[in-house]
Amino acid sequence: MARRVLITGGAGFIGSHTALVLLEQGYELVVLDNFDNSSPEALKRVKTLANSNALELVEGDVRDLDAVNRAFDRGGPVDGVIHFAGLKAVAESVANPLHYWDVNLNGSRVLATAMEQHQCRTLVFSSTSTVYGEPEVFPLHEEMPTAPVHPYAQTKLAVEQMLSALCRSGDWRVACLRYFNPVGAHPSGRIGEDPLGTPNNLFPFITQVAAGRRDKLRIFGQDYSTHDGTGIRDYLHVMDLAEAHSVTLDHLFHSTAPHQLTLNIGTGCGLSVLDVVRGFEKATGLPIPYEVVARRPGDVPKLEGCPQKAKDILGWSAKRDLAQMCRDGWTWQQANPLGYRSVP
Ligand code: NAD
Ligand code: UD1
Repeated sequence: MARRVLITGGAGFIGSHTALVLLEQGYELVVLDNFDNSSPEALKRVKTLANSNALELVEGDVRDLDAVNRAFDRGGPVDGVIHFAGLKAVAESVANPLHYWDVNLNGSRVLATAMEQHQCRTLVFSSTSTVYGEPEVFPLHEEMPTAPVHPYAQTKLAVEQMLSALCRSGDWRVACLRYFNPVGAHPSGRIGEDPLGTPNNLFPFITQVAAGRRDKLRIFGQDYSTHDGTGIRDYLHVMDLAEAHSVTLDHLFHSTAPHQLTLNIGTGCGLSVLDVVRGFEKATGLPIPYEVVARRPGDVPKLEGCPQKAKDILGWSAKRDLAQMCRDGWTWQQANPLGYRSVP
């Protein structure tokens, strides 16, 4: 019988790509999403791409125990959960910290409560590389100290700690995946990243400049101590990240003993802002005009993770390169100039 997986936030950027990978592998899915930052259209497209109807939607808030219970009670027993639902904008978390603690921590607590009630104790949690704070030694290993510097990262680390306590208390199997910077889109261009308003993140900003929606990229600082002065990040293709979730679930389902895993999910290869701009220009043949402006408050010079533990434990490593991230992100942008809102 097919395994049944609950995906919170499954309509979002990473959730929709992961849902597609899991549907293609024959899982049955229940998605819980309140569409705070996504569109039901993403899920329709996921089903079409996978040529599968084995995805049910429960529209609701992860902080609402009744809604989460509805998702658990929708069909047969849920075997495992992937918890994407949450908020991720650093500046917004500084401006409105209570909202971040509520959605990210309280939402996770309510979800774990429902999981206990349904005897489902297998969970993959979306954590972030920003829990490392402002590190100076690279590449980052999972055992290195965490020192989150903004409420967004603090809430993610707090959830990791809550889940550690659960693992110590009972028969849980939990993986906290610390993502680096996911970018790109499914190669079909049917699903992708759909930021509302002006993008905060580098990659969607670049694709919108390429499409002529914005006149130029503003590079936040060229005075960092990096090879060209611009900030370095570990960008990975969202399809590689989606596949990491599927192998993590598989690993947890086959674990005989309860345990908690914490894994970096990245390529291990840091790229500067200028490396990405040039890579995009080369992959697509399109110019990306830019100007250098002041540093963005809160940015760190560099984040680059060591993905060896994920390779050793899961056999997973990123397969797609920057050119593919750029081509696929550009295919999505061209086909959906206004994201899912392009749909009549
Ligand atoms: P996203 O905003 O595209 O997806 C999040 C989804 O959760 C959306 O569909 C949104 O509508 C839903 N959601 C938000 N609040 C909810 C609530 N209270 N109840 C139910 N659904 C809710 O973001 P994403 O980029 O796909 O990120 C997914 C997860 O990964 C987030 O938890 C994020 O913090 C984490 N993460 C993302 C990145 C990144 O660079 N994108 C990096 C590290 C970690
Ligand atoms: C940011 C968040 C991070 C979050 C992630 C996904 C901060 C400090 N970090 O990561 O916690 O998990 O988004 O939502 O906000 N850049 C420009 N011009 C732009 C945009 C970005 O030069 O218009 C530069 C940044 O200075 C940085 C790099 O591009 O050096 C990557 O930025 P971004 O895509 O926003 O990712 P992070 O800052 O790593």
